[in-house]
Amino acid sequence: MSMKRFFGRLHVSEETKKYIEKDLKYNCQNYGPLKMVIAKARGSYVWDVDGKKYLDAISAYGAMNQGHLHPRIKNKIIEQLDYCTLTGRGLHNNRLAEASEFLTSTFGYQRSIMMNTGVEGGETAIKIARRWAYEVKKIPDNKADVLIASRNFWGRTITACSSSDDPERFTNFGPFTPGFKILPYDNIEAFESELKSNPNVAAIMLEPIQGEGGVIVPSDALFPKIRQLCDSYNVLLIVDEVQTGLGRTGKLLCQEHYGVKADLTILGKALSGGFMPISAVLGNDSVFKVMKPGSHGSTYGGNPLASVTCIEAIKVIQEEGLVENARRMGDLIISRLKERTKGMPYFKDIRGKGLFIGFDIDENCGPKMEDFIEENCMRGLLIKNTKPTKVKVAPSLLINEREADFIVNTIIDSSKL
Ligand SMILES: Cc1ncc(COP(=O)(O)O)c(C=O)c1O
Repeated sequence: MSMKRFFGRLHVSEETKKYIEKDLKYNCQNYGPLKMVIAKARGSYVWDVDGKKYLDAISAYGAMNQGHLHPRIKNKIIEQLDYCTLTGRGLHNNRLAEASEFLTSTFGYQRSIMMNTGVEGGETAIKIARRWAYEVKKIPDNKADVLIASRNFWGRTITACSSSDDPERFTNFGPFTPGFKILPYDNIEAFESELKSNPNVAAIMLEPIQGEGGVIVPSDALFPKIRQLCDSYNVLLIVDEVQTGLGRTGKLLCQEHYGVKADLTILGKALSGGFMPISAVLGNDSVFKVMKPGSHGSTYGGNPLASVTCIEAIKVIQEEGLVENARRMGDLIISRLKERTKGMPYFKDIRGKGLFIGFDIDENCGPKMEDFIEENCMRGLLIKNTKPTKVKVAPSLLINEREADFIVNTIIDSSKL
């Protein structure tokens, strides 16, 4: 494709073109990023290489809850750089135990294990659940199943691809990891009937709102009922809060909206405030007791730098009122979007909790998705679609009412091409 066609209706500078052309030439083309190039970021905003400012409502797929380069987290990292960054888990360090104590007491669990990326958090939870299933529940060898939902997204390792029903994730990556059953997300009967007929279920693993699936909010009854089913059938509930956790939905954990507590909760993304990959799985002794030296680990998992970072990242969320702000600003954006788009058939099903917001567009009633996203970008708002018709809006949790209004106005104006 010619570069002129590639950039389409966008007016891009020579500087922008230079980086994008280099990316197209040398980088693995496993993403389709917006056609602009970021050079700087602070708080809720990013600036491109030409100095143009954008409100970032992509937030690295929900990782920037505390905004870009939060000074408190940055300073903690700088402080720790005078001491020690990495020991490996073959040695104790004076930071990890502090982080474990902080994580467990904050979220009400007895133990934590720290890893790096969100997908490693998912892998870790599944490994713990499988071992628990063999050693505590006494499921026959290699028969443990994990029930997971259609449209789930928890990363891109072979096991994550193995449990996905999205062809983009799994096509030509087989053979796949067995032991997953994919059931419709918000369908209690499907989960109940599987549990009735299958005695080998180790765990049910769910996102409390499906993020990359398109900000799919389940009915209020789903999680309480799933919790009940897990208790009745001696099955672990794994809740993936990698994207929904840490204030994003207007609660510290999204599962609080439903009044349930997972047996294993997975955190990631905002756990470092965007400074480095940190994930964690939280649970109780009755489950974690199956993990022994050698059963799991990662060179960087639980390193001292990550340990001080995650404590500060969570303290920022708690002490700066970000959970409450996410709820207030989220309610405001959702209600104003609903009100202002009444009678506009382009916008469908505006939904979400806190600053985890989604809507569908109908391309028959306005611009194509790509043009809509690009128009928002040209007007200074970064948003993206997670599926062909589904748009996600997830700014930092720092935004104020003026910025909430800017988001609403820009989205609406960009539909009038
Ligand atoms: C719910 C959920 N779980 C897990 C992941 C994977 O996280 P990571 O990309 O850090 O591996 C994601 C990423 O978007 C996610 O949304």
